[in-house]
Amino acid sequence: MPQTRQMAGFALGEDLQVRYGKVRALSEALVAPLSDADATIQSMEDASPAKWHLAHTTWFWETFLLRDNLDGYGLFDENWPFVFNSYYEAEGERIARFSRGMLSRPTVHEICQWRAHVDAAMGTLFEREELAPLIELGLSHEQQHQELLLTDIKHALFQNPLGVAIWDGSAPHSVTSGDGWHTHPGGIARVGKQTDGFAFDCEGPAHRVLLEPFALSARLVTNGEWAQFMADGGYENAALWLSDGWAWVNENAIAAPSYWRDDEHFTHSGWSARNPDAPVSHISYYEADAFATWAGQRLPTEFEWEAIARGQEGHDAAHDPAAGNQLDEAEPPLPAGSPGLFGDCWQFTRSAYLPYPGFEPAPGAVGEYNGKFMSGQFVLKGASCATPRGHSRASYRNFFYPHQRWQFTGLRLAKDCR
Ligand SMILES: [Fe+2]
Repeated sequence: MPQTRQMAGFALGEDLQVRYGKVRALSEALVAPLSDADATIQSMEDASPAKWHLAHTTWFWETFLLRDNLDGYGLFDENWPFVFNSYYEAEGERIARFSRGMLSRPTVHEICQWRAHVDAAMGTLFEREELAPLIELGLSHEQQHQELLLTDIKHALFQNPLGVAIWDGSAPHSVTSGDGWHTHPGGIARVGKQTDGFAFDCEGPAHRVLLEPFALSARLVTNGEWAQFMADGGYENAALWLSDGWAWVNENAIAAPSYWRDDEHFTHSGWSARNPDAPVSHISYYEADAFATWAGQRLPTEFEWEAIARGQEGHDAAHDPAAGNQLDEAEPPLPAGSPGLFGDCWQFTRSAYLPYPGFEPAPGAVGEYNGKFMSGQFVLKGASCATPRGHSRASYRNFFYPHQRWQFTGLRLAKDCR
C-alpha cells in the first residue's frame, strides 16, 4: 500500500468535524505501509492487530454515537460488534482478546469501507451540541489507539528475524538534553483536571495534595546511562530491585530494555545504531525503579510531576503539553531527547493508578473506560514520540502494569530536597 502522510496536530478551537476528519485520516495513514498480513498478526495478548485497531475505533463511533443517537441508523454488519468490542461488558459478549489475531477477515479494505460508511453517517451529529463531549471522547479514544497501533505493530514486526522496516529512517532529531533540575519548595499543590477542556474521567476531580520539597530532572535518562547501569551489573544485583521486579528479571531472563541487540535497537525503520544521548525507552516499571535506586535517586510521584508541569509562581514556567517530540503524521516514532516534560517517552511515576477523592465513573458503558482498571497499575505522565500531538496534558494519566514495556516508556529521575 502506498505511504500517505497526514497532519494530526490540532489548532486551538478547531471545528470538531475538521478534527474528526484529521484523526480518522491519520489512523488510516498509519496502516498504509502495512500488508494485510502485517495488519492481521497479533504478537501477544497485550497487543492487538493493526487492522483490529482500525475496526475497534470504528465500532466505538458506530456504537456510542451512531447506534445510540442517530435515528434509523443500521449497523454496517451486525456480526462485527462481537469481534471489535474490546472490554465493554455492557455491550455484551465478545471474542477473547488473544484471538484477535485470528481474524483474517474482514480485510483491511473491508474495514476501510466500514470506516467510510461510519464517517459519512457521522456528518449530521457534529451539529448536536449535547454530543460534543462524547465526540471528544471518541477522538481521544482513537488517538490512544493510534499510539497502541504503532507500538503493537513494532512488537509484531520485531518477531520477524528479517528485521522488517515499514518506514525509511527519518532524519535524526536534534538532541538537546540539558542537565539540571526543576526544583519545587513543597507545599499544597492543586492537581487533576482544572479546565473546561476535555479530560478523561480518571483525571478528576481536581484536588489538593501536600508535597515535600523535591526536584525533578530536566531530562530523561539516556541510552548511554542505561548502558552504564548494565555494565555495572544492574540486572544482576538483587539489592537494586523490588522483590517482584527481581522475580520478573529472573523468570524472564531480562538483561536489557526491549528491542536492544548489542549496540543496536529495533525501530519501525528496522535495526539501527542506538544514539547514546537519546532517551532510553521500552523499560518496565521494575527496571525504572531499579535504575533510580542504582543512581541514588527515585521515581517522582504523579503529583510531583504534575506540579512541575503546571509551573509554580516564582519557580519554573509551565511546560507546553503540545511541545516536544510527539506524533504529527504517519512517520517512524523515535525518542530523541527533546526539551520540556512532554514527548519522547511516557515517564513512570511511583504512584499507583487509583481513583482521586470524589471520583465517579461516567454513567453507562463508557464508564468502563478507566475506573475498572484501577488495580495493580502505575501512572505514567507526559507523552511519547508515538502520542498524537495535542492528545496529552498536565493532568493526563497513562497507566500500565509494572512488567509491561512494549510502549515508549522511559524515566525521569526525582530526588528529595530536605
Ligand atoms: Fe478502545
